[in-house]
Amino acid sequence: MFLPLLFTISLLFSSSAHASVLDFCVADPSLPDGPAGYSCKNPAKVTVDDFVYHALGIPGNTSNFIKAAITTAFAPQFPGVNGLGISIARADLAVGGLVPLHTHPGASEIIYMVKGKISAGFISSSSNTVYYKTLRKGDVMVFPQGLMHFQVNTGKHVATAIASFGSPNPGVQLTPFALFANNLPSAIVEKTTFLDDAEVKKLKAVLGGTG
Ligand SMILES: *[C@@H]1O[C@H](CO)[C@@H](O)[C@H](O)[C@H]1NC(C)=O
Repeated sequence: MFLPLLFTISLLFSSSAHASVLDFCVADPSLPDGPAGYSCKNPAKVTVDDFVYHALGIPGNTSNFIKAAITTAFAPQFPGVNGLGISIARADLAVGGLVPLHTHPGASEIIYMVKGKISAGFISSSSNTVYYKTLRKGDVMVFPQGLMHFQVNTGKHVATAIASFGSPNPGVQLTPFALFANNLPSAIVEKTTFLDDAEVKKLKAVLGGTG
């Protein structure tokens, strides 16, 4: 009777002695990233500025091929979110701008429309059903983890949205770049995408692929 009780109590003490609760784990991006995120910066060197980020207040430069700019506050740029399961970004889309089909392997995304008008949607993996909608100021849309999605400015003015993610480092794979901005031989790209040679060669040239 007495012995098992003692054993239970000692087990309780030993497990609590080993329990460790971290308030935060500010990233040390000089060390390699892993599945659990970055290693922690020495807590004695953490300051409030590790938890504050300013770059999302500035519109991104949309003078580019897609006429859009994504400014990310993921763990590599914003070390304070490391280990916390969240991050944030800003998207600016000039008139006619777009965020090409892409996926975030590591997180679901939720966007809040600050201004403008976009057409946004995602494609289910189970049945390739497309869910898309015109979004305006104040609208919110969620994009489930891993599914292909897009945003296109369909309005007459710049559109801005704030995007939040369920990971400090959600990752991004842009589908057209994954398919055509690489060095996979065109013959294999053609076989695996059902596209013809001329189209594949054209897209490789436009997007910077070789082969
Ligand atoms: C925006 O990007 C373009 C193309 O890279 C560049 O020429 C231009 O100077 C940039 N504008 C600003 C305000 O940084």
